[in-house]
Amino acid sequence: MLKTSFTCDTPELTYQLGLMIGEKAKPGEVWTLEGPLGAGKTQFVKGLAKGLGYEGNVTSPTFTLQHIYEGRLPLYHFDWYRLEQSKAVEDLGWYEWTEKGGIVAVEWGDKFPKLIPPPAIKISFEILSEDARRLSVEASHPESIPRVEELILCWPP
Ligand SMILES: Nc1ncnc2c1ncn2[C@@H]1O[C@H](COP(=O)(O)OP(=O)(O)OP(=O)(O)O)[C@@H](O)[C@H]1O
Ligand SMILES: [Mg+2]
Repeated sequence: MLKTSFTCDTPELTYQLGLMIGEKAKPGEVWTLEGPLGAGKTQFVKGLAKGLGYEGNVTSPTFTLQHIYEGRLPLYHFDWYRLEQSKAVEDLGWYEWTEKGGIVAVEWGDKFPKLIPPPAIKISFEILSEDARRLSVEASHPESIPRVEELILCWPP
């Protein structure tokens, strides 16, 4: 297991961290994003999408459950906040989305931990102040630990 944390003192820095992760993302990565409302999960995904080369708008798929952004690799953006049962996600073809060779980002991924594949990397968002957030990044699978090691070397930019 490897865990590290980054303090992002502005929304821009959270975006930049996402952007850097997007630029280096490899097919099949799953990122699960946890933390309270307004913690910055969508802000992070905006950077992630941009880093993957997507130029359009990114918003929380709170009601639609899923958004797809086509960049260098497709980004499948989920938000499980309103979901009460994992069945709705499974019916949406969750297991296929995680195996399509794109990048998966799930807001409120901690709601259904059983659906999360073990190599997924978890980011827990903590609100430190109006402008600052702590992002704790955790990998517990040999496949994804090097990815977090790489992040530690590249951040802050
Ligand atoms: N350091 C920071 N990093 C990220 N967002 C920040 C930061 N400081 C302030 N903010 C603000 O906090 C809000 C984060 O909103 P965002 O939609 O990303 O939250 P969220 O975690 O996706 O919430 P939800 O669970 O409702 O989807 C934005 O308005 C953003 O500008
Ligand atoms: Mg959100």
